[in-house]
Amino acid sequence: MRWVAALVAAFAAAVSGADAPQFAGGAETFQANCAVCHRATGAGNPGLAPPVILDAPHFAETAEGRRQLAMTVLYGMYGEITVGERRYNFKMPEFSRFEDAQLADVLNYVVFDLGHAEARVAPLEAADFARERVHVVDGAAVRAHRTTVMAAKP
Ligand code: HEC
Repeated sequence: MRWVAALVAAFAAAVSGADAPQFAGGAETFQANCAVCHRATGAGNPGLAPPVILDAPHFAETAEGRRQLAMTVLYGMYGEITVGERRYNFKMPEFSRFEDAQLADVLNYVVFDLGHAEARVAPLEAADFARERVHVVDGAAVRAHRTTVMAAKP
């Protein structure tokens, strides 16, 4: 039954090829640390955690939006926000213990693999996180900054 094994292998390769994330390391980090609240697809959990595939991919398009993404994972966020018509008011934990490169990778997975940001958008880099580590803020300030980023949206 070698042909069966070959067929199974070919099928598996085709499927994983189609599904292979662009940011594989980020996918692993996300599934291990973020999916519990944001779900594996990033679609969120009503009443608990917002989708990360609605506004977050657009944040990657502007300088202040990119700062917002970096601050959210470095310092967490709390206070009410509205994402896709739903309100959320729970605490996003901080992940400052992760290396800058790992934080860039997990957000690139969110922005590009889950959120399908356009190819013209530049991936986040470790330096984007290193820069935000210099100004320590709390989760309330991260939320306030989100409000200014949303207001500036074209
Ligand atoms: C304990 C649950 C929990 C975990 C774990 C968690 N988050 Fe969150 N996340 C939240 C909540 C809650 C919010 C919204 C906070 C608020 O209401 O101010 C949020 C907000 C966000 C946002 C902002 C979305 C927006 O539209 O502004 C991003 C991006 C995000 N999380 C990414 C991540 C990533 C990446 C991880 C893993 C490294 C992660 N989260 C882990 C609960 C969680």
